[in-house]
Amino acid sequence: MPRITKLEDKIISPISNITQPSVLNEETQPVLEIWGGNSLNGTVNISGAKNSALVLMAGSLLCPEDCRLSNVPDLVDIRRMNQILTALGAKITKNGNTLDIDVREINPTQAPYDLVSQLRASFFAIGALLTRFGIVRIPLPGGCAIGARPVELHVKGLRAMSANVFIDSGIVHAHVTGSKRRLQGAKIYLDYPSVGATETLLMAATLAEGETIIENAAQEPEIVDLANFCCAMGAKIRGAGTNKIIISGVESLHSVDYKVIPDRIEAGTFLVAGAITHSEISLAPVIPEHLVPVIAKLETMGCRVISESSTRLKLIPGVLKATDIETLPYPGFPTDMQAQFMALLSISEGSSVISETVFENRLRHVAELQRMGANIRVKGKHALIQGVPMLSGAPVMATDLRASAALVLAGLAAQGKTIVRGLHHLDRGYENLEGKLQGLGAKLQRITSNQ
Ligand code: EPZ
Repeated sequence: MPRITKLEDKIISPISNITQPSVLNEETQPVLEIWGGNSLNGTVNISGAKNSALVLMAGSLLCPEDCRLSNVPDLVDIRRMNQILTALGAKITKNGNTLDIDVREINPTQAPYDLVSQLRASFFAIGALLTRFGIVRIPLPGGCAIGARPVELHVKGLRAMSANVFIDSGIVHAHVTGSKRRLQGAKIYLDYPSVGATETLLMAATLAEGETIIENAAQEPEIVDLANFCCAMGAKIRGAGTNKIIISGVESLHSVDYKVIPDRIEAGTFLVAGAITHSEISLAPVIPEHLVPVIAKLETMGCRVISESSTRLKLIPGVLKATDIETLPYPGFPTDMQAQFMALLSISEGSSVISETVFENRLRHVAELQRMGANIRVKGKHALIQGVPMLSGAPVMATDLRASAALVLAGLAAQGKTIVRGLHHLDRGYENLEGKLQGLGAKLQRITSNQ
C-alpha cells in the first residue's frame, strides 16, 4: 500500500504512537476458555455489518429529522458511536437491533475526545457535520494496534470542496465560508482507495453545491450501503461500488427507515470456523457476492461453498491445502479476513505466504499463533506459513479485533484447552460470537473473574 507521506501545510500527521487500550487488570478481565477438537453443525445467524452500521449512524447526521436503522448489531463499537452521537445532541432510542435516531438538535463542535479517539469510524462524521452545519470540530482518531491510521485523504478532499481545515492540538477544525456556508462540489482523486475517506467525502458531497466526482474511490459493499442509505434520504449518487462516484448536491434530505446489510466479515469468519474444524455448517443471511474472494480462497484450499438460497451458504469442508494470499482493497481479498485465514493456513498442508498490503502493523497475531504451535515466520509485510498437522491449546492474548477472532478459530481446531485474553477487542466487532459458536456445538465459555 503506497504510504502517503506528503503533509499538507498545517496538517500534522496524527500522533503515530499506537494508542493501546488502557492497561486492564488482567486478573479481573473475562477470558474465553475453548476446548478444541469438536466438530460443528447447524446454521448460524449472521448479524448486520459493523462497518456499515457505524457509517450509517454517522450518515444519520445528514438528516434534519429523524431516521430509523434496523439490523444494527449489538456491539461495543455501536454503543460507542451511540454515545458520540448523543454527546453531539442526538436522541437515540434502541429497540433490540433497531435504532431510532433524532438529530434535530446537534452541536457540531462538541464530539468528545475520549470517545472519538477510541472509535475511528466516528471521525467519518466530519463530512456529514460539515456539509449540514458549515462548521465542525472533531478530534483526530489517532492510531491503533494495526497502524497509524492517518486521515490526510479525508482532509485533502474536504479542502478541495472549499472547506477551511486546520488541526490544532489533535483537534480538526473545519468551516465553510461564503454567504450560504455550503461546501462546493469538486473533482477529487484519492491517492489510495480509502474506505473512510470515500465515505467522508460522499457524505460531504450530498448537500454540497454542484457536482462532486470521487476518482479512485473505495468499492467496498459498505460504500454501496451508505450510498443507498443517502439516496433513500433523497441524495443523488451514481457509481457507488465502482472507482468513480458522482454526487449531485441537493438542498436537503429527509427521514428514512433503512436496514443494514449482513456482515461479510462475520460471515467469512464463520466459513473459516467450518473449514478449520472440518465441519459442514450453513450461514444466513448473507450476500454471496460480497464474499467472492473469501469463497474463492476456501475453494482453492480444498473446501466447497454452495448456495442453498440467494441469502444462504453452506460450507463443505475438505483436506486443507496451502495457498498464497495478498490483502487488497475490494474486490481484492479483504484485510479484515487476513488473521482468520492465517489460523486456517497454519494447519493446511504445504507452504503459504500471506502479504498484508493494507495496514502496516497487522501481523501481531503471528506470535500468539506460534504459541499454539504454528510454524510462521514474518519478513516485512509477509508471513511465511508452513502448515503443521495440529495446533496445541495455549493461553493467548488478542491484540486487535480480527486477531481475536483468529485465536478463537485456532482454539476450536487445537488439541486441548485454549484461553483467549483481551476479549475487549473481540466484543468491539462480533455480536455474541461464543453464543453463536456454542449453538453450532463448539465447546467454549466466557469465564469472568468471579467464576
Ligand atoms: C475501514 O477502515 C474499516 N473500518 C476497517 O475495518 C477495514 O480494515 C478498512 O476499512 C480497509 O478495508 C470501518 O469501516 C469502521 P482505509 P478505514 O481508510 O476506513 C491508509 C475492522 O476490523 N490511509 O481504507 O480506516 C490507512 O492508514 C476494521 O472491522 C491513509 O494513509 O480504512 C490504511 O493503511 C479494521 N490516509 C489504508 O489507507 C488516509 O487519509 C486503508 O485505510 C486514510 C487511509
